[in-house]
Amino acid sequence: MVILVTGANGQLGQALKSIESIYPEHKFIFCDSAQLDVTIPQSIADEFLKHKPDYCINAAAYTAVDAAESDRDKAYLINVTGAKNLSQLCEVHGVVLLHLSTDFVFDGVKTSDDCLGYVEEDVPNPINYYGWTKWKGEQEIVQNLKSHYIIRTSWVYSDYGSNFYKTMLHLAKTHTSLKVVSDQIGCPTHAVDLAKKLLCVIDHDTSNFGIYHITGDVVCSWYDFAKSIFSTNGIDIDVQAIPSVSYPTPAIRPLYSVLSNKKFKEQFDCLNR
Ligand SMILES: NC(=O)c1ccc[n+]([C@@H]2O[C@H](COP(=O)([O-])OP(=O)(O)OC[C@H]3O[C@@H](n4cnc5c(N)ncnc54)[C@H](OP(=O)(O)O)[C@@H]3O)[C@@H](O)[C@H]2O)c1
Repeated sequence: MVILVTGANGQLGQALKSIESIYPEHKFIFCDSAQLDVTIPQSIADEFLKHKPDYCINAAAYTAVDAAESDRDKAYLINVTGAKNLSQLCEVHGVVLLHLSTDFVFDGVKTSDDCLGYVEEDVPNPINYYGWTKWKGEQEIVQNLKSHYIIRTSWVYSDYGSNFYKTMLHLAKTHTSLKVVSDQIGCPTHAVDLAKKLLCVIDHDTSNFGIYHITGDVVCSWYDFAKSIFSTNGIDIDVQAIPSVSYPTPAIRPLYSVLSNKKFKEQFDCLNR
């Protein structure tokens, strides 16, 4: 298969690059934002005509959750108009789209008492602008393209780009004590694991299109995650649990954004490479 990846220099894009060699049966085309700008339809059409992809993984996005509150036009352009452009051109060129979305489409009022987390049928109700643009982007795709997989993931971390994992390691170099929010609960997802699961979707594609939740299996708070990062890396640092109200940010975050992976696990039988 020819697999074209947008947003190739982002965290997920780089994770996909890192596993390219273990999928020799596929031809990967990695496009950064200069080669393929999702906000410019002609730029997408040019790359589609040149490479004739079977699949497109849309890893391009505006992901700065707090900045999106004030940088609304840009967030909308990339996350909504970009998704619309891409889905329309996938339809024209017969490309199957794997589009990444987020746990932040949900409001977080479902509680851990429900145990299973949010399922694909739960109705989104985003509480910040980034989440709203990602939900609108999902709607554009559903409206414009039948052959789509919308993959919602959460709390992505890796050695690439900027993420919570790297921020914690960086802060530990200059701090002896850190305060970390303990009342937001979610599932950290390693970008390389996510990348492999996206390829599993492609390898086991039965055209059962729609929304799928793919996250790591561990449910924890940011505080728990921070403690685990430090212990895994042998870092001795004092970590204090604080509530979200003690760490105000421009964007409100859902308190509970665990996504159930049940549908994905039932539909796709992934062999680990
Ligand atoms: N990170 C998380 O914790 C998280 C959680 C849930 C869901 N997700 C979703 O997962 C996906 C991948 O996230 P990520 O962490 O890999 O994001 P990321 O590291 O921020 O990468 C996003 C990439 O998109 C590119 N981009 C921005 N505007 C573009 C445009 N107009 N055209 C083409 N490319 C453009 C950026 O390129 P430039 O740097 O050149 O601008 C960047 O390389 C996104 O859909 C995100 O919403 C992420």
